[in-house]
Amino acid sequence: MYGLTEGAYIVATSLFIFALHWMNAPQTARRGVYAGVAGTALAIGVTWIQPGIVHHWWIIGAIVAGAIVGIPLAMVPLTAVPQRTALSHCFGGLAAGLVGTAEFYLWFFHEPHRLTTFHVSAIVCEIILGYLTFTGSLLAAGKLQEIKWIPQRPVTYAGQNLVNFVLLGTAVALAVAIAIHPTAAWAPYVFPVIIVLSLLFGILLIIPIGGADMPTVIAILNSYAGLAAVAMGFALDNKLLVTAGALDGSSGLILAIIMCKAMNRSFTNVLFGAFGQAKQATASGEEKVYKAETPEGAAQVLEQAESVVIIPGYGMAVAQAQHKVRELYDQLKKRGVSVRFAIHPVAGRMPGHMNVLLAEADIPYDALVEMEEINPDMPQVDVALVVGANDVVNPAARTDPGGPIYGMPIIDADKARTVLAIKRSKNPGFAGIDNELYFSDRTWMLFGDAKGVIGDLVKQLSGDSAGG
Ligand code: TAP
Repeated sequence: MYGLTEGAYIVATSLFIFALHWMNAPQTARRGVYAGVAGTALAIGVTWIQPGIVHHWWIIGAIVAGAIVGIPLAMVPLTAVPQRTALSHCFGGLAAGLVGTAEFYLWFFHEPHRLTTFHVSAIVCEIILGYLTFTGSLLAAGKLQEIKWIPQRPVTYAGQNLVNFVLLGTAVALAVAIAIHPTAAWAPYVFPVIIVLSLLFGILLIIPIGGADMPTVIAILNSYAGLAAVAMGFALDNKLLVTAGALDGSSGLILAIIMCKAMNRSFTNVLFGAFGQAKQATASGEEKVYKAETPEGAAQVLEQAESVVIIPGYGMAVAQAQHKVRELYDQLKKRGVSVRFAIHPVAGRMPGHMNVLLAEADIPYDALVEMEEINPDMPQVDVALVVGANDVVNPAARTDPGGPIYGMPIIDADKARTVLAIKRSKNPGFAGIDNELYFSDRTWMLFGDAKGVIGDLVKQLSGDSAGG
């Protein structure tokens, strides 16, 4: 049985590694998902047949309960995936915390010889990381879901970092004390104090974070959940939990680093900088003027262009306009116009959001160009067509040192010869600030829902505007 279990765990670990590798490219992503599911199923199956497992109905009950929660969670629209991901981390953290708590009390009262300093060190790491991930992720999910009674903007106060540091420091000091004296009579009373401090720390860690930093924070919480699983693996002597947790922890960390780079921010700044504390656009007294364009006029501009760059953003996802965008792409290609899509790494609300939507509409992968690659070409581009994007094309990232997105690399839409921008209103984007691009001499606004406006453009180009 030991050889079978270890062999199966190695196969499961390999499947997890391949899953991550395959998810690097849209062509192989589906295979990556299947590999991940197969690895998880194998790990659960092999663990379940261990002779030590006797309460099978509890396991069946847990699987049913997990499915009841998990299936509806998987059905959420793509735009809600970040908060859904945060909820998954929250459950992962809670599971690690509860397992760690059960282990400690079970061993304390029934098998005290298992409470070695090594095991207890692993358990206290598990509960600190697990419980702080639980409350931190829950709050992050609530912020992203824009739940009314949860403040979306960063909540800050004097000495905040000191308070957080003291709180975490106290939890760690108590954890060290328990690790040194695991069987002391006071240990079962101090253990809940560590739990409460960790739960509180998770909340206090997230309240000063808001705005554009939430996706990065979710990736960091992902890595905490992974590390909690590693600690659980050490506590339970389970190698698979150690490797799977390490993969989870490191991939979350790498993703967070990539996102920090995409927004030109440092890790410490994300965690302690209270980013997203957006100054509301200051009323300058003078009303700035937008130039509106009609679909007929815009279609003519597009028709006469040699090169068009489409810049999709969150609004394309909200409008589900990707299929209409595909029709527009086809119409323009038919006329010999060069059409490319400029992909910003944090456009939309989750990493790869635009890639997924455009792939769903069967837009060829080679038409998708990363921000760094497309930006040098932007001054030669005839038309930049902005489809529901805002922050990722906001020149304030270059020009407004006090602004919440200052330093974030953007797609240089403002450098194109003409800009056509589709959005519904004069409202700002995620960071809550005005966008000078829309007031520029070269920009024409197409106000309306992205799906409707692009549909109108397609009708104009296909000569179908009269018949509808
Ligand atoms: P945003 O800055 O959020 O702008 C989206 C724009 O789309 C809005 O100005 C909105 O204007 C418009 N819009 C919404 N619904 C629309 C519809 N149905 N039809 C047409 N337009 C519509 O989006 P972005 O430029 O993609 O930038 C992403 C932002 O989200 C960044 O600040 C980024 O840091 C942050 N963020 C990113 C992620 C990841 S990982 N991608 C995760 C969380 C947050 P109207 O309301 O006027 O229509």
